Amino acid sequence: MSFVKGLKCRECGAEQPAAPKAICEECFGPLEVTYDYAAVARGFDRDRVASRPRSMWRFRELLPIDGDRILGEEVGGTPLVRADRLAARLGVRELYIKNDAVNFPTLSFKDRVVSVALTKAREFGMTTVGCASTGNLANAVAAQGVRHGFETCILVPEDLEAAKILGTTVFGARLVGVKGDYDQVNRLCSQIADRFGWGIVNVNLRPFYGEGSKTVGFEIAEQLGWKAPANVVCCMAGGSLITKIGKAFGELAKLGFIDKSPTAFHGAQATGCNPIVAAVNDGTGEIRPVKAKTIARSLAIGNPADGYYAARLIKDSGGQAEDASDVEIVDGIRLLAETEGIFTETAGGVTVAVAKKLIEQGRLPRTEPIVLVITGNGLKTIDALVSTAAVYPVIEPRLEAFEKTIARADALAAAAAKPAAAASVTPSSFVTSSKSAVPPAPNHGRTSWPSR
Ligand SMILES: Cc1ncc(COP(=O)(O)O)c(C=O)c1O
Ligand SMILES: [Zn+2]
Repeated sequence: MSFVKGLKCRECGAEQPAAPKAICEECFGPLEVTYDYAAVARGFDRDRVASRPRSMWRFRELLPIDGDRILGEEVGGTPLVRADRLAARLGVRELYIKNDAVNFPTLSFKDRVVSVALTKAREFGMTTVGCASTGNLANAVAAQGVRHGFETCILVPEDLEAAKILGTTVFGARLVGVKGDYDQVNRLCSQIADRFGWGIVNVNLRPFYGEGSKTVGFEIAEQLGWKAPANVVCCMAGGSLITKIGKAFGELAKLGFIDKSPTAFHGAQATGCNPIVAAVNDGTGEIRPVKAKTIARSLAIGNPADGYYAARLIKDSGGQAEDASDVEIVDGIRLLAETEGIFTETAGGVTVAVAKKLIEQGRLPRTEPIVLVITGNGLKTIDALVSTAAVYPVIEPRLEAFEKTIARADALAAAAAKPAAAASVTPSSFVTSSKSAVPPAPNHGRTSWPSR
């Protein structure tokens, strides 16, 4: 049974039936899915949620599908991890990581939006699906597209990370690199959707696709014992995810699953692509498109489709917006890895780095619960880390060699603790193997294994 009422324009309020389109015919505003919440409330409660398998589809009454046929039933249900070691480093009391770096099947939150979009594409009778992508969406469309028997056609800027390209073509997807940035790819995809009638998940299926992001918020609230956190820090590209987490808490409050949301939403971008952060911080709320230049390529959207709404959510919720430089992004990735054992991609580095900055500046309260939304996996963006990778010892296969190495490591750690003595211990045995996958690197002051 469907609880979808239809599509509604976010600007002029015009309503229309659910169909594969994203833009209002009256005023060109973005369309959004609306639900019959009174009907949802009858028979949908916390117990019903708890009785279902742990996946994003526990919340199917609040997702825009018409039938029972779900594509991607296993997607979502990722851990919310209490992050005490990172909390101690940042000097905050209660910190959590929503870890979509381990989402199924392609290790980013984009698996969620694609599960909804492909379910919808099948309902609409489409046989080819595609997307304009900065990488993660490409991976998700390629993997789920092949699994559910769609033809795929995926367009990306030509200069994406190798892992994101390979993580698309390995599934046999048709991939097209475009000489241009994401915004040019997106424009081309709008023309393709019109010409070919394909389901371009973030173009003509966008209203449905976006709803998948709400499940990040639904899960956070459930995992906190049916409570919305006081603070959410979320990275932004198009600005859709952060707004949909806001919508999720609002819907749960409307249905009585949680108290009315007191959440402040804090938005994070890379300094090299920060149009939403700029719109918040200059006080105008107006998005001025930028040319992106950042290692966080998954966030490199210079003209964000939902930027205006993301900026408004941040302001209205009493949140903050901040950006992080490339060096800070890498430090953010390492900080999360070294404290919590979670390896995130550059987008997650942005989130951690911005959270750290906001806490240090007193803009994010140290005594209130904070959830960091970690959206993608570090194995996809190792390019960003290689030049700063820690050097590790390579030894002969003999016990004495190992003992010597350990003794030297201990001496180095002790010397590092007493800076004056550091010069007397040379890290000469800490070399990188010429056979190693990680090339010798200028390691920014790090001589060996990180000290604990
Ligand atoms: C890993 C990752 N995190 C966050 C985002 C931002 O999502 P949104 O465009 O909904 O703001 C993206 C978008 O591609 C992404 O790939
Ligand atoms: Zn309109």
